[in-house]
Amino acid sequence: MKRLAIFASGSGSNAEQIINHFHNRSLQVCVDLILTNRPNAYVLQRAEKLGVESYVFNRASFYDSDAIINLLNERHIDLIVLAGFLWLVPKNLIAAFPNKIINIHPALLPKYGGKGMYGQHVHQAVVANKEIETGITIHLVDEIYDNGAILRQEKCEVQLSDTADTVAEKIHKLEYKYFAETIEEYLTKI
Ligand code: GRF
Repeated sequence: MKRLAIFASGSGSNAEQIINHFHNRSLQVCVDLILTNRPNAYVLQRAEKLGVESYVFNRASFYDSDAIINLLNERHIDLIVLAGFLWLVPKNLIAAFPNKIINIHPALLPKYGGKGMYGQHVHQAVVANKEIETGITIHLVDEIYDNGAILRQEKCEVQLSDTADTVAEKIHKLEYKYFAETIEEYLTKI
């Protein structure tokens, strides 16, 4: 059995989709734990509803201790998935899980990546620049924001009539369609 841990800071709709994807298929994969830095993140309610354990941490335990690494090791986590997780992953966690952390970014990296480029900020910039396409990037995580090896990119069109909200809807559709599938593919290689 391969065991996933998902880090999410907000709503967690991607986390829910990934949990359901693996739950509904008789693959040897399960989402073992949801971790969040926000005690009131909606992802916690989703985890409870879906019967997945969750863990809330603060800045000190994430950046100044090995508490999270120890927890992930105790639970025999094989792969970490960042699904709308907004904090930079510290070096000790990356070193403990080399090539075993996957992120999704809601744009076609290297465009619209880096510090400050998250959530609606990305879609607002895409619209402001009158881009004709945007998309998602699923990539491995290294020590630089949005920099690791790209596993998959998928595109969608942007019309002049689009707003940041309508772009976000298109992006979510791509995320729900491709994120879990890409995780599943990657799991066969590790
Ligand atoms: C997604 O668009 C993801 O790419 C990101 O933040 C959003 C999170 O949505 N960076 P949700 O919490 O999974 O609903």
